[in-house]
Amino acid sequence: MTLEQEINKRRTFGIIAHPDAGKTTLTEKLLLFGGAIQTAGAVKSNKIDVSTRSDWMDIEKQRGISVATSVMGFEYKDLKINILDTPGHQDFAEDTYRTLTAVDSVIMVIDCVKGVEQQTEKLMEVCRMRNTPVLCFINKLDREGRDAFDLLDEIEEKLDIKVRPMSWPIGMGKSLRGVFNIYENNLNLYEPNKTKKVTDVVEIKGVDDPKLDQHLPESMTKELREEIELVNGVYDPFNKEDYLSGKVAPVFFGSAVNNFGVRELLDCFIQIAPPPKARENELRLVTPDEKKFTGFIFKIHANMDPKHRNRIAFARICSGKFERGNNYYHVRQDKPFRFSNATAFMAQQKETVDEAFPGDIVGLYDTGNLKIGDTLTEGEKALYKGIPFFSPELFREVINLDAMKSKQLEKGLDQLMDEGVAQLFTYEMGARKVVGTVGALQFEVLQHRLLNEYKASARFEAVNIYKACWISAKEQSKLDAFVKDKYRHIARDKEGKLVFMAESKAWLQRVQDNFPDIEFHFISEF
Ligand code: G4P
Repeated sequence: MTLEQEINKRRTFGIIAHPDAGKTTLTEKLLLFGGAIQTAGAVKSNKIDVSTRSDWMDIEKQRGISVATSVMGFEYKDLKINILDTPGHQDFAEDTYRTLTAVDSVIMVIDCVKGVEQQTEKLMEVCRMRNTPVLCFINKLDREGRDAFDLLDEIEEKLDIKVRPMSWPIGMGKSLRGVFNIYENNLNLYEPNKTKKVTDVVEIKGVDDPKLDQHLPESMTKELREEIELVNGVYDPFNKEDYLSGKVAPVFFGSAVNNFGVRELLDCFIQIAPPPKARENELRLVTPDEKKFTGFIFKIHANMDPKHRNRIAFARICSGKFERGNNYYHVRQDKPFRFSNATAFMAQQKETVDEAFPGDIVGLYDTGNLKIGDTLTEGEKALYKGIPFFSPELFREVINLDAMKSKQLEKGLDQLMDEGVAQLFTYEMGARKVVGTVGALQFEVLQHRLLNEYKASARFEAVNIYKACWISAKEQSKLDAFVKDKYRHIARDKEGKLVFMAESKAWLQRVQDNFPDIEFHFISEF
């Protein structure tokens, strides 16, 4: 197969949702359709086993929270589909943001009872930053959910994206009878089915087909016909370009746990979802069909094997062909590296991979040379752009509890920050170290891992910080003057970039007013 054929075969996407909306269930059903697993029930009953394989940290197992972002690949109708799962817990949202930099599109799961939840809004913002195409799956139709039109209005309003229904529910909850597939113009009759594939699709040609009346009671056919007419009147016809540019989200309805509406979603997805796209590095736009390999690291997992302190770096391939055993150029370290132990992800298994193509994710075993945002090439000295760090929400000072182990603490913090567990800010004055996170749980993860993996005991003490702002100015002298003036509040991030640690919103506002030449950024990349 040519490189171009390999690229066109691939669809790499992420599933995002508010916890409990049904992301894991949907992922399982997609794998089931892809034949990557035999029965969905089997995977469910294996939940602990699955988490052992994908969530490598003890603490996650103890808490039963899927912190890890795992990758699952499968083949479906001649396409190679890569699903990047994202952590459900909101404290690990940073992880999800970074995963979204490695996908070409997104499926967003929304619970029809709860509607659009807050976390979904934030995730959508991240998709919008990169114009990532989004497809919505409104789940749990077997429950008494909200009116379909209301849900669509809410998506448009809260997520600030236009929608286009591609399927339509016939009833809901106890009265759910099926889904009319607007895209394919056929009818899928409802049959709760947790373990088998649903093949009970009745072929009908549009809502006016008299066959519809044979399968549904009169009141339902009447309502369905009226609703479909309304849908076609209210929403613009589906336009693939608008979907691909992130302007319109096609919407599907279904019930993942009952394996219902999932095939419609998947079959449409493979027709409309984008193959790997071109990506910008510091110098230029790199197209996937370029002969030379390039890729970047978006995620690092540590200690899958407690006996060895090894890490696995997840690399998204952007162009060319990755070949195991080849030397690749590590741009940040300006050194060649050989990855003889690359891993691919198929369904729940990891297997050694000899070659991989744009859109694929490979796992690279690493002993501490790679970190998030690193770029690998065949010689080009340019980093990929767009793996930003956001200003954390919570800040705590690191207090070393064992003076004999300060080296271990330093090393532990350094490596855990490379993995993106949290962000470290070191004050210019006194070298105070402050860790920033999105949620409180990350401090517990840090403390646990520092102790267990690095034998360093530390405490995290609350500090009064509202935001970390990366600062810049057109004139270096202005920046120098600001740093001098606000010396006590200036820190450096792990890359050595200058950061202003603002204590409150009001104070930040005052400082911004007083120093109009200084630019304050809430994202590390500006
Ligand atoms: P998440 O990954 O987004 O956090 O959600 P997950 O798939 O784990 O699903 C959360 C709960 O919602 C699970 O129930 C799951 O069975 C249920 N669920 C998923 N899809 C549907 C659906 O279409 N209809 C209904 N009624 N429920 C659905 P649980 O009780 O937490 O777990 P389990 O005991 O069922 O495994």
